[in-house]
Amino acid sequence: MPFRPTKKKEFMNLPSLFELESLARAAGKILHDGYEQDHDVQLKGVIDLVTEIDHKSEKFLLEAIGQRWPESHFVAEESGESGSGDLTWYIDPLDGTVNYAHGVPVFCVSIACAWDGQTRLGAVYDPMRDEMFSAERGRGAHLNARPLKVTRVAELAKSLLVTGFPYDMWTVVPNNLEYFGRFARMTQGVRRLGSAALDACYVAAGRFDGFWELSLKPWDVAAAGLIAEEAGALVTNLKGEPDYLSPPLSILAAGPLLHEKMLAVLNQA
Ligand code: IPD
Ligand code: CA
Repeated sequence: MPFRPTKKKEFMNLPSLFELESLARAAGKILHDGYEQDHDVQLKGVIDLVTEIDHKSEKFLLEAIGQRWPESHFVAEESGESGSGDLTWYIDPLDGTVNYAHGVPVFCVSIACAWDGQTRLGAVYDPMRDEMFSAERGRGAHLNARPLKVTRVAELAKSLLVTGFPYDMWTVVPNNLEYFGRFARMTQGVRRLGSAALDACYVAAGRFDGFWELSLKPWDVAAAGLIAEEAGALVTNLKGEPDYLSPPLSILAAGPLLHEKMLAVLNQA
C-alpha cells in the first residue's frame, strides 16, 4: 500500500458537543448558585457591569478547557485573548450581566469552539430554566435534545423581533434607537431581553422571528449564531454579509424570507 501521510486533523484533540454542553452546565451551576446573592459589581464602562460571578465562571472555564485542550486560543469576555493553538474558544461566562446584577433571571453561559477557520460547536446554557441550546455544524441545533427550527414567518406585520443596545448608547450614534423605532411600527413587537446569546437562541427555537443588534463582540454570538444557522436561520451582519464575527460586529438572524425584509428596513435611508 502506498504511504499516505495522516491528515493533521486526525491528530487534533477535538472537543465533542457533549463536552461543550458539560462545560456550559458546570459554569451555569456557578451562575445559579450565585444568583440573588450580594454581588461585588464593578463598572467596565458607564453602564457596562461585571460581577465576581462573571470572573468565577470565566476562571473555571479557562482552567477546565486549558487542562483538557492545552492547544487552545481563548477569546473570552473578561480576560480577552490568551493562549494559542488550533482550537479557538469564544467564551461569555455570563451573558446578561446587567440582568444578573439586578436579579432578573434572564442570563446564560455561552461557549463556542472553532477550528480550521469555522465555528464548529456551540453551547448556550440558561441555568434558571435548565435550557441547553446547542449545535454542531452540519448536524442541526437542539434544545435539551429537541431539534430546533426557525419560524416560517415572512411578513414583518406577523413577526415578533428582539434586539439589544450597546453599552455606549448614551453617547454614540448609531445606537439602535432609530432601527428599534422603525421595527416597532412594523411588527407585533420588539423585545429587549438583555442577553444577545439567548436572543439568537430564541430565534433558533422559533420563539422570536428575528434578531438584530449592532456593536456586539464575538463571545456574545459565536455559539448562538451557529445554533441559529443550524436551526435554519440566515445569519449575517447588518450589511447582509456572511461574516458576522469580524469587527465592526453586527448580527441579523432570521428565517431567510424575513431576513430579506429586515435587511431592507435596516438599510433604508
Ligand atoms: C450584553 C448582552 C446584551 C447586549 C449587549 C451585550 P453581557 O452582554 O448580551 O443583551 O445588548 O450588547 O454586551 O455584557 O451581558 O455579557
Ligand atoms: Ca458577559
